[in-house]
Amino acid sequence: MDFEKELKDRTDRVDRLLEKHLPKEDGPQKTVLEAMRYSVMSGGKRLRPILMDETYTLFNGSTGSVEPFMAAIEMIHSYSLVHDDLPALDNDEYRRGRKSTHAAYGEAMGILAGDALLNYAFETAALAFDIDPGPCVAKAFSLFAKKTGIYGMIGGQVVDVETEGRQIGPDTLRFIHEKKTGALIEAAMMTGAILAGASDDQVDNVGSIALDVGLAFQIRDDILDVTSTTEVLGKPVGSDEKNNKNTYVKYFGLDKAESEVEHISERALTSLASLPYENPFLTELIKRLVHRKK
Ligand code: IPE
Ligand code: IPE
Ligand code: MG
Ligand code: MG
Ligand code: MG
Repeated sequence: MDFEKELKDRTDRVDRLLEKHLPKEDGPQKTVLEAMRYSVMSGGKRLRPILMDETYTLFNGSTGSVEPFMAAIEMIHSYSLVHDDLPALDNDEYRRGRKSTHAAYGEAMGILAGDALLNYAFETAALAFDIDPGPCVAKAFSLFAKKTGIYGMIGGQVVDVETEGRQIGPDTLRFIHEKKTGALIEAAMMTGAILAGASDDQVDNVGSIALDVGLAFQIRDDILDVTSTTEVLGKPVGSDEKNNKNTYVKYFGLDKAESEVEHISERALTSLASLPYENPFLTELIKRLVHRKK
């Protein structure tokens, strides 16, 4: 498999889907529509929609109902980054290789563009009801809303911000990582499985694989914040230290954080291999995330 080419084809497809679904930039509220596009069409890795689609493929999904959800999860992810960068949260002025949205459009427009993307994500996901009138879309919609909200990503961001500069235990550290990052990866992969008609047990298995992928992904993000450069990452390094964040690196040190990424990813790959279906691209993607450079 020419993995790099396969990955680029998939990334390009997500970009096209987002182009198709983003709102037109006209009307009196044009500024917020421009800021939405600015934050979404900026060369992210598109990992979450790709994971969603590959999980959908793993379970032989074929109705096309996954497409609006793929656009929707990237809108949610982009909004989470826009808000994460705001002065009141991580206060970072650089994202995906250019000014973060609030730095380019002002703080008010940054807040509103985040709100707008969040809301528009659900308008977009709802298009799936017309593609597949069966029960899967309603089930996926509900899971998607839950994992992106207060019991998922937002919950994690709350504890991440509230515990800055405070001593916390390993359970809280894990809660932060599993929710702020793991929950969107769960939303991605579980939505893909549900839309394809996977059984409840299979969806649960996919959920625990996704949680591990997300946990490893965030620990790697914390490592890169210390070991990489702004040029490579396209976002400021040293952000966690600046904000006194509780990270795996701070808590356990670089070496242990590094071995945790490997160990947790290995666990995810073992569970993936035990599913009754196979998707070599998905397996390879999860393997490569372990040593990602950005
Ligand atoms: C950044 O996510 C935020 C984290 C959860 C670590 P990504 O590393 O997927 O960012 P983009 O989408 O590629 O910019
Ligand atoms: C971000 O964690 C998680 C979400 C945006 C939900 P970080 O704050 O570590 O992400 P980066 O490093 O700014 O991308
Ligand atoms: Mg943050
Ligand atoms: Mg941040
Ligand atoms: Mg980070």
